[in-house]
Amino acid sequence: MSAPTFVGFRNLIYEKSGIYFPDNKKYVLDSRLASRLAEHNCTTFEEYLALLKTDAWRDKELPALFNAVTTNETFFFRDLPQLQAFNDLILPAMIKENQGTKRLKIWSAACSTGDEPFTLAILLLERGREGAGSSGKEPALAGSGLAGAMTPGAGGCKGEKESVLADSRAGGCNGDLGGWNVEVAASDISEAALGSARRGAYGPYAMRHVSPPLLSRYFTMEDGLHCVKPEVKRLVRFAHINLFDSARVKLMKGMDIIFCRNCLIYFDDKAKKRVVDSFYDCLNPRGYLLIGFSESLHNVTRAFHPISSHKTVVYQKV
Ligand SMILES: C[S@@+](CC[C@H](N)C(=O)[O-])C[C@H]1O[C@@H](n2cnc3c(N)ncnc32)[C@H](O)[C@@H]1O
Repeated sequence: MSAPTFVGFRNLIYEKSGIYFPDNKKYVLDSRLASRLAEHNCTTFEEYLALLKTDAWRDKELPALFNAVTTNETFFFRDLPQLQAFNDLILPAMIKENQGTKRLKIWSAACSTGDEPFTLAILLLERGREGAGSSGKEPALAGSGLAGAMTPGAGGCKGEKESVLADSRAGGCNGDLGGWNVEVAASDISEAALGSARRGAYGPYAMRHVSPPLLSRYFTMEDGLHCVKPEVKRLVRFAHINLFDSARVKLMKGMDIIFCRNCLIYFDDKAKKRVVDSFYDCLNPRGYLLIGFSESLHNVTRAFHPISSHKTVVYQKV
């Protein structure tokens, strides 16, 4: 790929998604776009770029382009300190905050193949078990807050309720946990990753940090894969959302907690600011934003209050 063609791809991808490929990542585009060229019988990168610039083709091809250029690395129980902060600090605070409405809305905004939102759903169910007075041996994370406030609802799925996710195709519903209405919204720009997320079937790599008790409680084994049980799936609603699509993101208003971990690293500062500002607008007052362990809002915004907890930093809307 020539330097000008690389810049052409870089500008297009950035303009549409915020993902920025610096010069030293040219080789990544080189290798990831090869399959798209083959798919369209293009013999050169220039031909494929020209096709992407054609109005009639762009909308059809962009989803496949995003599938090709995104990095979807993820796994269950990633960055445990952050999950401990979520469990021990943020959930108790939000439970107190929302006692009046008994509603809790969590958004995993770059959920990839679903490992993150399903981890959150498992943590919520574990807290419910503690609250229900189960023997609770080896809970995922020790803590209090939801215990007593949220116990597993007897009714299970009660059908579609009002949702911020217009195109949810997970077939799930909001979770009714002990009278609390809990929704884990999960979205990504990659349709391919979302397809895997909706299937909810995982190999050993994704599961390497899941303890044996949790494995047997929340997964079944089918064809050598760990499949998420329906009680976990029903808490999570998947949707395709490009975080650079302001109109779609605006629909996500009223969130209590947003996870956007290990996604902002692919953006430049300007794109990070745009996305983080939109998260601010989506959060309820005193809501929380969790970004990746190695990511920071330094140079991006001062709108959030950083809170150090469990050897990590979480951000609260002030
Ligand atoms: C490395 S994965 C992180 C997954 C998960 N949050 C975690 O920490 O394990 C980054 C994800 O961000 C998604 N992504 C990148 N740009 C995006 C955008 N503009 N809108 C929505 N998702 C995006 C990618 O498709 C990818 O699945």
